[in-house]
Formats: sequence, structure tokens, C-alpha cells
Amino acid sequence: MHAMKPSIRRSIGSITLSLLLGVQYVQAISLDVQSTDSIKSAAKIVADEMVSYYTGYRPGDVPGNLPAPYYWWEAGAMFGALIDYWYFTGDDTYNAITTQALLHQVGPGNDFMPPNQTKTEGNDDQAFWGMAALSAAENNYPNPPEDQPQWLALAQAVFNTQAARWDTTSCGGGLKWQIFSFNGGYNYKNTISNGCFFNMGSRLAVYTGNQTYADWADRMWDWCSAIGLRNDQYFFYDGSDDTLNCTALDHLQWTYNAGTFLVGAANMYNFTNGSQIWEERINGIISGINTIFLKNNIIVEQACEEVQTCNIDQRSFKAYLARWIAATIVRAPFTYAQLKPILETSAQAAASVCTGGDKGTSCGLRWNFGSFDGSTGVGEQMSALEVIQSNLITVAPGPVTEVTGGTSKGDPSAGTTSDIGPGDLHKEAVTTADKAGAAIVTVLICLVIMGGAWWMVV
Ligand SMILES: *[C@@H]1O[C@H](CO)[C@@H](O)[C@H](O)[C@H]1NC(C)=O
Ligand SMILES: *[C@@H]1O[C@H](CO)[C@@H](O)[C@H](O)[C@H]1NC(C)=O
Ligand SMILES: *[C@@H]1O[C@H](CO)[C@@H](O)[C@H](O)[C@H]1NC(C)=O
Ligand SMILES: *[C@@H]1O[C@H](CO)[C@@H](O)[C@H](O)[C@H]1NC(C)=O
Ligand SMILES: *[C@@H]1O[C@H](CO)[C@@H](O)[C@H](O)[C@H]1NC(C)=O
Repeated sequence: MHAMKPSIRRSIGSITLSLLLGVQYVQAISLDVQSTDSIKSAAKIVADEMVSYYTGYRPGDVPGNLPAPYYWWEAGAMFGALIDYWYFTGDDTYNAITTQALLHQVGPGNDFMPPNQTKTEGNDDQAFWGMAALSAAENNYPNPPEDQPQWLALAQAVFNTQAARWDTTSCGGGLKWQIFSFNGGYNYKNTISNGCFFNMGSRLAVYTGNQTYADWADRMWDWCSAIGLRNDQYFFYDGSDDTLNCTALDHLQWTYNAGTFLVGAANMYNFTNGSQIWEERINGIISGINTIFLKNNIIVEQACEEVQTCNIDQRSFKAYLARWIAATIVRAPFTYAQLKPILETSAQAAASVCTGGDKGTSCGLRWNFGSFDGSTGVGEQMSALEVIQSNLITVAPGPVTEVTGGTSKGDPSAGTTSDIGPGDLHKEAVTTADKAGAAIVTVLICLVIMGGAWWMVV
């Protein structure tokens, strides 16, 4: 994930042009959220345009990669959206390219760590591919051939590689953003990486019935709460610097952070047969979402949307909140009355701004703008797709587990033996000599800083 690399592609010229086109094609996608057929046909139009950005299935191209400016993680997120699309609509048009892409990116350890991506891959990036595989297992998406890695085992592999990265050298635990020390952001413990681990742990607990995953999810929830990544109003902040032992926070709030904790809490609620503590936490998170991210019950990426600074990554975040709201309703049905209206109102608003582009069906970013805002891309399409198709949650067949018809083959020890490559500090214990060396360097740096400050004062 690349929150620190903002990029704004849109030019004034294209806004003007798009607005003109928008006027020409208003109401290009009609949507009645009470009608299954209407939702399916709207979702198809939006999915088709999302997939039009992808060329990885073409001969000579790399399956699983989106062209620049899209990072690798967003492709994993997009294939997750296409698995949801198949699950909600029954339309298998994109299944072949989805399966091909997921299997091409598993990497030598079958854990979504392809060597080509070491320069861009953090824990959150890996998790978005792992969560796509986990959705495939939960939805009984068609299994790969037997000689290929299987969906559940891939998700377990991602989970296990990350559990091994639990880092007690600072902040009392948690995951660092980055896997490799040579990547920028290695000293940041960000909420989405930790939240996706919580998300996967809770879902694996429900799917497999294995308490170990729930124990990890509990540990993660407690750690995020202790550090303050979640505050007592259930606001989820962006992350914290581990060189300061997580004593200072970046207070930006993003939809997907609230979303990943919401669905994780819903799975923990389900795993504990409806425990009161998780019910309270779910209600708290919903209340936080209401306060921060909803305007007239329409989801808004408030940190960047209205000021028009959302980068390529951030333009896809609403997709995940929508996706996880839907999954929450399934695992914690008591939330239906509160959450379903958010999906309905947001989907209606999203469809109303899908009037851009050549065909007059490209979706804009700002759902509450009243018209197409000129912003187009994979993220805009994916967000509209997820929020529209999520309205099929009440007619979809319902997810499976290992004991209720799930057919994906798992491997509890997947990912525990793979070589996770350079920069992984947690495979080999740090020696006392290393620690002493690091301490000496720290002392020297402090002396230099203090000396410098002394000199300036004098
Ligand atoms: C890695 O890059 C090479 C060269 O572009 C490509 O042939 C290969 O398919 C890529 N592998 C993955 C898993 O992306
Ligand atoms: C760092 O933070 C953790 C968790 O809050 C705390 O337990 C630990 O004592 C702190 N370490 C230092 C050196 O302050
Ligand atoms: C939930 O209920 C099931 C079936 O009654 C039981 O086997 C399981 O132990 C319960 N789990 C918890 C955490 O209470
Ligand atoms: C757990 O989820 C299932 C559907 O996956 C649902 O039928 C059940 O009611 C949920 N349990 C609780 C306690 O809400
Ligand atoms: C439960 O999960 C843990 C962690 O992956 C694993 O070590 C253990 O073997 C699993 N237990 C069962 C019964 O599958």
C-alpha cells in the first residue's frame, strides 16, 4: 500500500470534457436496489469497465498485474472484487482470468510473495491477495486443479507468514507495515496491515473452527487498542512510528481501516456464538463509521474526497468498506437494520455518478456529488461495483465453512517453512552482539544530536 505516494492524474481539461460528456449521458446506469435483476445488470456494466483496465491475460502480459499506475496490491483487491462478483451474481464471465491471475502470483512459497514484487510488497499488500483467496474459500468459488495451490491453504500461508512477523522489538507487538527492511515505511506500524491480519485470523477461525486463529485475532485487537490505533470512540487511525515506540499516531482515518476491523469483529462475534463483548465492539465500530464516514448515509472518503487529493490507492478504499459491511451483515445478522440501508443509499448514489467516459457509464469517485466528478479508474469502478453488488447480500447463497459445505483444501502449516527472503529480521533471532552494536550506534547518534544542540545553544 502506498499512502505516502500521492498522485493526482486528473487535469482540468479532462474534468471539463468529462462534465460535458456527463451531461450528455445522465442516468446511464439505472439501479433499483430492491430488484435483483436491476442490481445484477448494473453490477455487470460496472464490472466490465473495471476489467477493461486489465490486460494481464493477454499473451506476453503478466497475469495478475495491472498496468501502471496501479500497484500490485490493487490487482489482488480487484480479483477479490471479481470473486465477490461471481458469488453475488452467479455470472462466471471473469472466473477464468481471476483464477489465472491468483495462481500466477502465488510465488515460490505459495504465500503471495512473488520475487518480482519485493520492492512494493508490504504486509497489507500481501494480505489483499490472501483475502481474495480466503473469499474464494468462503464463497465456494471453483477450486484450482489439484496440482495447484488451493484457496484455503494460500490464505493460511499468508496468515502464517505474518504471524511469524509479529514484532515485539517495539510497541509491545504488532506488525510493521513493510516486510523488507529496504523498503520505505519499514519503521511504520500501520493500521491496515494489522487490521488485515485481524480480518484474516477471525475469518480463518470461523472457516476452520481452529481456536488458534481466534487467539491471534484477540491478541491483535488488544494490541491495536493498547497502542491507540483504535481509540475509545472506535475511530481507527492510520498508524504509528515504531522508532518512537508507537507513542505518537498519524490521525488520518480511512474507510478501509474501519471496515477491516468491522468484519473481523463480526467474525469474532460469530466464532464466539454471539458474545456480548464482540457485539459491543461491533456497535462501537458502526457508531464510529456513522460519525466519520457517512453523509446522508452515503459512504465518503472524508480524508481526501472533497478536497480532491485521493491518490490511486485511496480511490479504491470505499470498495473494501462496502465489501466488509456486507460480510458483517452475514456473520452478525443483528446488524442488518443498521447496515443494509448504508449499502442501499450508497449504491444508489454511486450508480447516479456513473455517467462519465466514452460510453457514459464510467463511475466517478464522489458518490454524493450529484453528478460525475471527472475521476475515473480501477478504484472508482471497484468501489461502485462492491457497493452495488453488496445489495445482493440477502439473496446470495451464504458463505460456507469447513463443516457447512466448504470444499477448499487447507494446510494449517502452509507458509511456515518458506524462505521469506532478505530483510526478514524475524526468522533468525537477533544476536546479543547485534543488539550491542545497535545500542552503540544509538548512543553515538544521541551524542551527535545532543552535541549539535549544545553547540547551537552556545
Ligand atoms: C515476473 O516478471 C517476469 C518478467 O517480466 C515475468 O515473466 C513473470 O511472469 C513475473 N512473475 C510474476 C509472478 O509476476
Ligand atoms: C514500548 O511500548 C510498549 C507497549 O506500550 C511498552 O510495554 C514498553 O515498555 C515500551 N518500551 C519502552 C522502551 O518504552
Ligand atoms: C459455540 O457453539 C458451538 C455449538 O454449540 C460449540 O461447539 C462451541 O464450543 C461454542 N463456542 C463458544 C466459543 O462458546
Ligand atoms: C453466524 O453466521 C451464520 C451465517 O454464516 C449465521 O447464520 C448465524 O446466525 C451467525 N451467528 C450469530 C450468533 O449471529
Ligand atoms: C490450528 O492452527 C494452528 C496455527 O496455524 C496450527 O498450528 C494447528 O495445527 C491447527 N490445528 C488444527 C487441528 O488444524
